[in-house]
Amino acid sequence: MKTIKVNTPSKSYNVISGSGAICELIPSLENSVGKCRLAVLTDDNVDSLFKDKLEGLFQAAGYSYIKYVIKNGEASKNPETLFAFLEFMASEGITRSDCVVAFGGGVVGDLAGFAASVYQRGIKLIQIPTTLLSMVDSSVGGKTAVDLKAGKNLAGSFWQPSAVICDTDFTKTLKKEVFRDGCAEVIKYGVILDDALFDKLGGGIENCLEYAVCRSIELKRDIVEGDERDTGMRAILNFGHTFGHAIEKLSNFSVSHGAAVAKGMVIAAKVARALGISDLTHEISGILLSYGFDLSCAYSAKEIASSAMSDKKKAQGKLSLILPEKIGKCVIYPIPADSLLSLLEAVKL
Ligand SMILES: NC(=O)c1ccc[n+]([C@@H]2O[C@H](COP(=O)([O-])OP(=O)(O)OC[C@H]3O[C@@H](n4cnc5c(N)ncnc54)[C@H](O)[C@@H]3O)[C@@H](O)[C@H]2O)c1
Repeated sequence: MKTIKVNTPSKSYNVISGSGAICELIPSLENSVGKCRLAVLTDDNVDSLFKDKLEGLFQAAGYSYIKYVIKNGEASKNPETLFAFLEFMASEGITRSDCVVAFGGGVVGDLAGFAASVYQRGIKLIQIPTTLLSMVDSSVGGKTAVDLKAGKNLAGSFWQPSAVICDTDFTKTLKKEVFRDGCAEVIKYGVILDDALFDKLGGGIENCLEYAVCRSIELKRDIVEGDERDTGMRAILNFGHTFGHAIEKLSNFSVSHGAAVAKGMVIAAKVARALGISDLTHEISGILLSYGFDLSCAYSAKEIASSAMSDKKKAQGKLSLILPEKIGKCVIYPIPADSLLSLLEAVKL
């Protein structure tokens, strides 16, 4: 088990990561938020698997809590669910000195974080991620969101948690595809920031899960500390995401986020090769294939370019591509948005 300290301009907090980290929940609550009431947000899957574990800890420590259970899945990450949870907290008399607890994957974490950031103009938040993706990505860094009809994550806030408890044992019950989605993000950290992590992942994440989760959090922490509000370097965490989001949207979200990011990373590697920046397509495809990702692309350059151009990250006619330079290092490569199509046409997708 390891404690990772995160110091952002808006807040400092600890992430406790490793097998059995949930045992540190109560001491961590006492240190970071004190004795207050807890408003737990979770989903029906997580609730049915782990409610006894969580509630047992709260009861034994004398914490009073209320719980709101949403239906699992991205479709719940909307303004209606957000407001239903806010109304629930208000009807239960949650006050400004109380605390929201996010217990679940990234959907629960994003919703709970947003709710904590706006309830009575902002209350404390504890993240207990239960998917690999939420452990290595969404629970750390303070981005919160709900989806709007016009697109994913279009309304949200920056709201750092007071503590994150990242117990890798929760991953044991994940469906294979959900676990693999998280693997795409861990591999991403290896490609853009850490060749040693990349090498270790080559031997299978099951042989280094605690290390991989912990290292991913440290890498994300280092980026977020320098660019909390995502105006500069934090963009590199979008490696594979510009093309990945485009594929997700084109597939009407039938291709999962991680599967789409995996395809997106390979496209980015091919673009880097076409631009003479690097030739890592073989290496990046190799590791992703070994994790069982399908790297085929069912869409044309034209379809991907137009879908990517409608993405929220396109600003003033410019698009920033994140391209691998070597394993463990990447570059932010701005291009005029209207040159994306010709660039994609130059590579075999
Ligand atoms: N805020 C950020 O910085 C950030 C970063 C990346 C992704 N996200 C968001 O995260 C979301 C995706 O997160 P996700 O992949 O965790 O999806 P998710 O929260 O939908 O969880 C995936 C599935 O796993 C189930 N599940 C959760 N924990 C489980 C466990 N321990 N055992 C068995 N089943 C379990 C859930 O019920 C759900 O069905 C997206 O909405 C995405 O936009 C946010």
